[in-house]
Amino acid sequence: MMGKGVKRIGVLTGGGDCPGLNAVIRAVVKTAVNRYDLEVMGINDGFEGLIHGWIKPLTPADVVGILPRGGTILGTTNRANPFQYPWKDENGVTRPRDCTPIILDNLAKYGIEALVVIGGDGSLKVARELAQQGVKIVGVPKTIDNDLNATDVTFGFDTAVNTATEALDKLHTTAESHHRVMVLEVMGRYAGWIALEAGLAGGADVILIPEIPYDLSKVCAKIMSRTEQGKKFSIVVVAEGAAPKGGSMVVSEYVNDTFDPVRLGGIGKKVAQDIAAECAVETRSLVLGHLQRGGSPSAFDRILATRFGAAAVKLVVEGRFGRMVCLRTPNIDSVDLDEAVREMKRVDPEGDLVYAAKSVGICFGD
Ligand code: F6P
Repeated sequence: MMGKGVKRIGVLTGGGDCPGLNAVIRAVVKTAVNRYDLEVMGINDGFEGLIHGWIKPLTPADVVGILPRGGTILGTTNRANPFQYPWKDENGVTRPRDCTPIILDNLAKYGIEALVVIGGDGSLKVARELAQQGVKIVGVPKTIDNDLNATDVTFGFDTAVNTATEALDKLHTTAESHHRVMVLEVMGRYAGWIALEAGLAGGADVILIPEIPYDLSKVCAKIMSRTEQGKKFSIVVVAEGAAPKGGSMVVSEYVNDTFDPVRLGGIGKKVAQDIAAECAVETRSLVLGHLQRGGSPSAFDRILATRFGAAAVKLVVEGRFGRMVCLRTPNIDSVDLDEAVREMKRVDPEGDLVYAAKSVGICFGD
């Protein structure tokens, strides 16, 4: 079956990287070439590559061996908003420029008739706008944060949870040996999915997430009650977006060249200092950081990424543009790009994950 009039597609990865990107790229290329006889062009470094023409053919030979590899062979950036791209004018002055016409020209120049955009909410919003300008686009949802409402889960999340869980297992042994409280700060932006699921899998005693503002006295009461039971150590997982009741998230940096105006970070250190001061226990903190974004994707993420990549090409072939593939367990489905970026998915404080966690004694500081 040939793609509905489409003979050549482009693929790009945008925003922060995550495990499984290469598995999607591989599935897109293999499905497009082997199943539908299409040509594929790889666009380097996300939308920036589309502006500068960093575009080259991508063949099945180029994707050999990349299924288990972390990162993205195409490169990515979370700093290139093509509608306000920093552009040096003839006087050497840099100003924001709407690069849509340049992108349209490059798509035409390279004969790219449809585009597969693999990205999170920032890249998918760009994709939606380009789709409104007439570009034939299909989106694939990626992010370790798992904060896109239109899909049951994003690829990359499972691997990040596994990485954080492994870290918690390791922290348990050193916390126990030294009779300490260990505080692990994990990523997730404004959603607490990584903290919640890793905390559950890693047997944390306290989980702090943005969706449930915490009260330090409740956290300390939990730690002290463990001490009274003879458990002289505790494990605390803190999502980077967590905040105390009536307080605000800890921002490590304000940034003006990305989709997200702030970079979160520092709450783990604050929680550790507050626990040490309030409970008089030795406390250490660490930030897991970008380790969560690196490494080989889990089997779950490899499979999901492969299903997403194959489904994205099928949408192209069927001429169903302006859509994003998604998981509606047990099937791969698709949604309109508008719906894909409409709502952030956050943890339900009354949901069954939190219920299960509380049932096994995990404290959320509420
Ligand atoms: O969205 C993915 C994510 O890893 C977030 O969890 C984190 O807040 C952010 O990206 C970090 O971005 P950067 O790579 O720019 O530091």
